[in-house]
Amino acid sequence: MEKILYPSLIKYLASFNTGTEPLLIEMENFAAENNIPILSKDSAKFLTMLISIYKPRRILELGTAIAYSSIRMAQSLGKKGVVHTIEKSIDNITLAKENIEKASLKEKIILYEGNAFDILPNMGKKYDFIFLDADKNDYKRLFDYCMILLKSEGIIFIDNLLWKGYVASTRVPKDFRSSTKVIKEFNKMFLSQKNLQSIILPIGDGIGIGIKV
Ligand SMILES: C[S@@+](CC[C@H](N)C(=O)[O-])C[C@H]1O[C@@H](n2cnc3c(N)ncnc32)[C@H](O)[C@@H]1O
Repeated sequence: MEKILYPSLIKYLASFNTGTEPLLIEMENFAAENNIPILSKDSAKFLTMLISIYKPRRILELGTAIAYSSIRMAQSLGKKGVVHTIEKSIDNITLAKENIEKASLKEKIILYEGNAFDILPNMGKKYDFIFLDADKNDYKRLFDYCMILLKSEGIIFIDNLLWKGYVASTRVPKDFRSSTKVIKEFNKMFLSQKNLQSIILPIGDGIGIGIKV
C-alpha cells in the first residue's frame, strides 16, 4: 500500500490522537478486528471539528456501517441537530442500532435501512451537511443526488479520495486498478464542479470537502 504521508509522520500524529471514550475505542477495535472500514481517527476528528464550527442542523450520511461516524457527528451537534444516516447491509444495520442505543443517541440519529438509491429520491427536505462514504463505484451517482439534497452554502464531506495513495501511484495492485480508476475520474469531476468550492486534503485516506455556491 502506498502511504499518503511518511509512515514516521503518521505515527507521530497518531500518538496525539488516542481518543478517550470507551464506546468509541471499542468500536474502533471492533472495526479493525472485523475488517469494517470506518473513518480514520484523524479524519473523524477533522469531521467533528468542521461540524462544531459550521453547526449544521441537518446532516445526511451515506454509509453508516457500525455508526462510528454517525455517533461522532451526533456528539458534535447542537441541541437541535440531527443525523440521518443510510445503510444497506443487514449485518451492519444490526450493529449500528446496538451502538446508537449504547451511545444514548436514538433521538439524534435516524437510521434509514436500505439502499441509498431507493431512499434518496424520497427525501424531501434539504441538508446543511452531507457525508458521502458508501461504495466507491457508486460515488458519482450518489454525489449527483447529494448535490440536489445539499442546501446552498452547505458542505459535502467525502472519504477515501486518495484511495491509499493509489490515485498518484504507478504501481497499483491488480485488485485496486478498477477502483483507483473510478476514484480518479470522480476526483476530476469533483474538483471541477462549477457550483462547488472544493478541495481534497491528505487527511486519513484523503478527504474531499466542497461548499455549494
Ligand atoms: C466505509 S463504510 C461507512 C463507514 C462509516 N461512515 C464510518 O466512518 O463509521 C461504507 C458503508 O456504506 C454502506 N453502503 C455502501 N453503498 C451503499 C448504498 N448504496 N446504500 C446504503 N449503504 C451503502 C456499506 O454497506 C458500508 O457499511
